[in-house]
Amino acid sequence: MPRKIAAGNWKMNGSLASTAMVEALAKAFPAPECEVIVCPPFPLIPALVNLNSPFTIGAQDCHFSESGAHTGDVSPQLLKEIGCGAVILGHSERRADHGETSALVARKVTATQNAGLTAIVCVGETEADRDGGRTLKVVEGQLAGSLPDGTDPDALVIAYEPVWAIGTGRTPVNDEIAEVHAAIRDTLEARFGGQGKEIRILYGGSVKPGNASEIFAIANVDGGLVGGASLTAEDFGPIVAAAE
Ligand code: G3H
Repeated sequence: MPRKIAAGNWKMNGSLASTAMVEALAKAFPAPECEVIVCPPFPLIPALVNLNSPFTIGAQDCHFSESGAHTGDVSPQLLKEIGCGAVILGHSERRADHGETSALVARKVTATQNAGLTAIVCVGETEADRDGGRTLKVVEGQLAGSLPDGTDPDALVIAYEPVWAIGTGRTPVNDEIAEVHAAIRDTLEARFGGQGKEIRILYGGSVKPGNASEIFAIANVDGGLVGGASLTAEDFGPIVAAAE
């Protein structure tokens, strides 16, 4: 398994025509030297899976139950059945827009891993947290709360996404990214021992073709979780190349 990951989170963007973007990307990267994960809105997942590209197709959320009376929700078992390989959990937009707590995210991590999927767990501070000097405390608290007992480190990816850097064109300076990723690595090693070294830690927040190589070269940065720049092959292609 390649160490680096280039993951695209399409959020509530894309249409059936977006399969063309993934086809173009697969043509450019028929055997990528990094893991490429594409996470479209739920209805587009089958179309992307059916392309049989070398990429993992992921979801942006799931419920913690296998089935039941949960209108509008999707189970990790169904995601697995239709060909997903990963699920983004605890994205700050879910935490903010849907009131998701770390306790809820933890239940989803268990369910996701039990279904045989990789959990991509997002953490990150707000601008007020950073200005108040609480970045590491917030991130470590989210990690502790979002990773339940029994978490399988082999089916876990962490994404550090400073909320204030998402979609803003602003990023922390390299030393700040390095500091948070080192703290996350320490936390993972304290929790999972040697296996904590193997867990991939992604940076997310305004990753672009122009800054991806520099960010991915920072210690303990194992690739990126990319929003806006994952929507076109022109933007995402160079980011995939930077992760190779
Ligand atoms: O999940 C992706 C992140 O929220 C980053 O989004 O690349 O548009 O800043 P962005």
